[in-house]
Amino acid sequence: MDYLPLFHTLDQKKCLLIGGGSIATRKARLLLEAHAHLTVIAPTLTNELSDLVQRGEISHQARPFKSNDTLGFHLVISATDNDLTNAQVSKEAQSNNIPVNVVDQPTLCSFIFPAIVDRSPITIGISSGGVAPVLARLVRAKLETLLPHGLGKLASLAAEYRQTVKNHFTNAKQRRLFWETIFNGPIADLSYQGQQAEAEKGLLQALAQANDVAPAGKVYLVGGGPGDPELLTLKALRVLQQADIIIYDRLVSADVLNLARRDAERIYVGKKRSDHSVPQENINALLLRYAKDGQRVVRLKGGDPFMFGRGGEEIETLIDDKVAFEVIPGITAASGCASYSGIPLTHRDHAQSCTFVTGHLKDNSVNLDWDQLAKPNQTLVIYMGLLGIRQISEKLIQRNLPSNTPVALIQKGTTHEHKVIISDLMDIADKVEQLKPKPPTLIIIGTVVSLHNKLNWNR
Ligand SMILES: C[S@@+](CC[C@H](N)C(=O)[O-])C[C@H]1O[C@@H](n2cnc3c(N)ncnc32)[C@H](O)[C@@H]1O
Repeated sequence: MDYLPLFHTLDQKKCLLIGGGSIATRKARLLLEAHAHLTVIAPTLTNELSDLVQRGEISHQARPFKSNDTLGFHLVISATDNDLTNAQVSKEAQSNNIPVNVVDQPTLCSFIFPAIVDRSPITIGISSGGVAPVLARLVRAKLETLLPHGLGKLASLAAEYRQTVKNHFTNAKQRRLFWETIFNGPIADLSYQGQQAEAEKGLLQALAQANDVAPAGKVYLVGGGPGDPELLTLKALRVLQQADIIIYDRLVSADVLNLARRDAERIYVGKKRSDHSVPQENINALLLRYAKDGQRVVRLKGGDPFMFGRGGEEIETLIDDKVAFEVIPGITAASGCASYSGIPLTHRDHAQSCTFVTGHLKDNSVNLDWDQLAKPNQTLVIYMGLLGIRQISEKLIQRNLPSNTPVALIQKGTTHEHKVIISDLMDIADKVEQLKPKPPTLIIIGTVVSLHNKLNWNR
């Protein structure tokens, strides 16, 4: 992050604007919206600025900038078309530790203005750090369309009843849940539509019905997908943003984790093949402990929790202890890797079925129904097959699957390091030894792989 976004209070603070043209006028409007006490130094003014002077809303000194003009001000903006003046203003202000902005000259600024989405008191500042202002404006336009215009009204309603609600709940978490329900439900809609009286009535009714009892905990077993955060389901995203505790695995991508609620506690229980850092029993115990403590626990797993994810074992413990839970599916590695590599898992000309198998057993062996797997017209998807790839391909060839059957090995599917290695049953093990792909990897075997050349859109 090159700039730290901060919100500056200017209420009745003395601010100085050098320049009286149209850009200066825009800056004056912003400063006045923030209730600044504004002085403008400029030989001439736009009509709008002159009107403000006449109405006594700003002070004006009709002359050019001179030394020591910035002294005593809380914030300074230079919006002149004179480079020398702009540089002088910047130097003087910075040497006196006064925040200064010179319009369109980032090197002369100690702070920059973001693009603003204003739903006061909700205010959003968007900045590209000055490197892509058009993009920042596009982001702003997008947010403008997404956020209800009445958002500010809802925030004002919340401000009005903040203390009343605080007095009602001794339990802080219960209070947060109450507000979340209000903000996500019909009372928020009433407020967006400007029906403040009805919204207030609804809020007070909801408060009267809300009891101040510590909420029961719940576990959400969530599939985080194969890596690309945009592949999360809407439900997974919502639950992640409401979590108190997130217990996550090695396969959960950092980008997905970044979408979680900032205040949530994060517990890593990642397991590597040779290093079971947190035993399964301990993970089960953690889930129980936090849920019984009234927390909203997200157990976040890579891909889908019910696909080679031991999700079943984790919820069994919850059922035994009568802890509430929900399972939220994710996109499994097979779907993600296949789609992002242009390899359809079934195809009328190639494969009428698709089998998912694990290429790694508890004792490090690979023990599968080879006769079944070697049958034609099907696709095999092998999870955790990297170590056993030589054994897997030899066994399939022994059971008469042609040695030239195409094989794709996909590294870190759907992430920025997504890579596809194409080979065949005969050569895949040598190719893996030679290219040393990084885990996690997924193996797809079958003639559908031959479609990769034509259908790969993700180059
Ligand atoms: C313990 S399994 C978990 C599978 C997960 N529950 C799912 O539905 O994708 C881990 C294996 O999934 C595969 N895998 C998971 N994410 C992957 C990715 N982004 N790219 C390639 N393979 C992946 C690898 O074979 C890895 O060894």
